[in-house]
Amino acid sequence: MRVASRGPGGLTIALSAWLSISQSPAWALLEPFDVREASIDSIHMALFTGMATCRGIVSSFISRIEKFNPIINAIISLNAESLSTADQIDLQIAAGNKTGALLCIPALRDAGSIILGKANLHELALEGISVSSFGGQTIKPYDLSRTPGGSSGGSGAVIAANLAVFATGTDTVNSLRSPASANSLFSFRPTRGLISRAGVIPVSHTQDAVGAMARNLKDLAVTLTVMSTIGYDPRDDATADIPPGVQGKDYSASLHGASLKGLRLGLLDGFFNYNPSAETTPVNDAMNIMVSQLAVAGAVVVNITETTYNALAIAAALDVQSYEYRELLNGYLAGPGADGSPRPTSFSEIYESGEFLVLPSQYEYVKSSAVSSTSNSSYFTTQRGIQNLTQALQTTFLANNLDAIIYPEQKNLAVKIGSPSQSGRNGILAALTGYPVIVVPVGISPPSKDAPIGVPMGMEILGRPWSEGLLLNIAKHISDLQPVRKMPPFANQTVETKSYSAVPVVTPNTGNIPTAYPMGVLWR
Ligand SMILES: *[C@@H]1O[C@H](CO)[C@@H](O)[C@H](O)[C@H]1NC(C)=O
Ligand SMILES: *[C@@H]1O[C@H](CO)[C@@H](O)[C@H](O)[C@H]1NC(C)=O
Ligand SMILES: *[C@@H]1O[C@H](CO)[C@@H](O)[C@H](O)[C@H]1NC(C)=O
Ligand SMILES: *[C@@H]1O[C@H](CO)[C@@H](O)[C@H](O)[C@H]1NC(C)=O
Ligand SMILES: *[C@@H]1O[C@H](CO)[C@@H](O)[C@H](O)[C@H]1NC(C)=O
Repeated sequence: MRVASRGPGGLTIALSAWLSISQSPAWALLEPFDVREASIDSIHMALFTGMATCRGIVSSFISRIEKFNPIINAIISLNAESLSTADQIDLQIAAGNKTGALLCIPALRDAGSIILGKANLHELALEGISVSSFGGQTIKPYDLSRTPGGSSGGSGAVIAANLAVFATGTDTVNSLRSPASANSLFSFRPTRGLISRAGVIPVSHTQDAVGAMARNLKDLAVTLTVMSTIGYDPRDDATADIPPGVQGKDYSASLHGASLKGLRLGLLDGFFNYNPSAETTPVNDAMNIMVSQLAVAGAVVVNITETTYNALAIAAALDVQSYEYRELLNGYLAGPGADGSPRPTSFSEIYESGEFLVLPSQYEYVKSSAVSSTSNSSYFTTQRGIQNLTQALQTTFLANNLDAIIYPEQKNLAVKIGSPSQSGRNGILAALTGYPVIVVPVGISPPSKDAPIGVPMGMEILGRPWSEGLLLNIAKHISDLQPVRKMPPFANQTVETKSYSAVPVVTPNTGNIPTAYPMGVLWR
């Protein structure tokens, strides 16, 4: 089923090596630039000082992709234009041209970035295992026996392994935050409406969001700044809510100043699993250490024990995907495709094709989507319930005078390959209320046979609507408390940069799909 890899943007993931240029070196010296843990700033520095060319940087990433992608099966295709685009940028540099920074889905391109390729994601972004009929199973770089989180698991694995600078993705319940958490990355899920979702294969108008993940907060802030420049977009009515003063904000400026001292952070007690086990204890230990460090830094951590905050119960009662999915997908597929290639034209065509992949734990959800719509009377009641939840969250903020709320993204480590689902995730609160979240790495579990340096874990920092700047500032101070991020062991080595005459073709491995997920099965 090819729909997951097609469409304008779709739910596919663009790995963007960000290369906006603002100065011209007079010479082009070609010492190889080490792209490991490279940031936008370090790449710009290399370009502006003539230490690297854009072609050289793109070639370095492609060389790493050729060497390491077969281990993690994270990339489904490379952009054949990336090297020629790099050459154009090198010519621009030579001509002293400063590239602008603006707008929309080509916004990234307009800002000078190069789309390296597309990453695997869970089939139609519907779960967090990151297995798809088109891309096979993506493997966690830190533990080859585990999933990389998801649905944007390919993006997370790619950025963790230093195969690109940052990645974009969508998040309907957990899809950016789970791979960020599982791969020692930072991510943002913006306030509903901040970034237009036009062009993305939809799942839920209520819950979908577009965001990104990166290895450091500066890159994340710059990415958010460019992605949010689009502002009001008539193709996504949620963007009409953007308040004055938010559009055009430079979020990298938010990383400076202030401190944790005196901040009031709510800790959602209901978003933990206190049953001790090898899967849950590392998360609880890492959060305990974080809470102590926050206290030492002068923040006040307020224990929020209200029973409202039970992620499983909230999802069971209020998740509206099955009402919205079929109608939205049909609308999307009725529109023109990105490149005119044939594709399914409806929800039914996909699920009657016999070529799709749905996890058995989701058969009921997809079957329910086939017969449900926003006309169901229970849809109206559920939306009222979401309003109540949003009101309760706002009351929690006000009653406790909170600046932000924290909790682990996942109550347990990212699950093993072949598991029934990516269980234990807490993304539903932001997904339903539309409140923004920044994920920061919070720790790495003790090493084990399968995980030589341990399994990364992340923490969500949830704020009030349009508080992305504050959240980034808090995230910066939290990440300064102790460096958490580490490279996956296999990726922490240099790779000789090849000289390419053309971008090589990457073919995803679909032969590794676990037998627990039979293809084409749903209707029995
Ligand atoms: C600079 O490059 C951009 C992008 O290729 C192009 O659109 C623009 O016309 C160029 N500006 C100048 C002054 O050459
Ligand atoms: C929060 O309160 C609950 C219930 O009293 C308790 O079990 C938990 O340990 C508390 N958490 C913290 C971090 O104090
Ligand atoms: C929506 O209504 C249809 C038709 O009555 C029903 O089959 C379906 O279960 C309802 N969906 C939900 C999520 O309640
Ligand atoms: C929402 O809250 C109101 C007032 O507290 C209550 O009457 C109503 O039953 C709640 N609705 C849902 C769907 O939870
Ligand atoms: C890479 O490996 C070196 C040597 O083992 C280590 O010191 C360094 O911290 C690693 N870098 C990252 C980012 O994990």
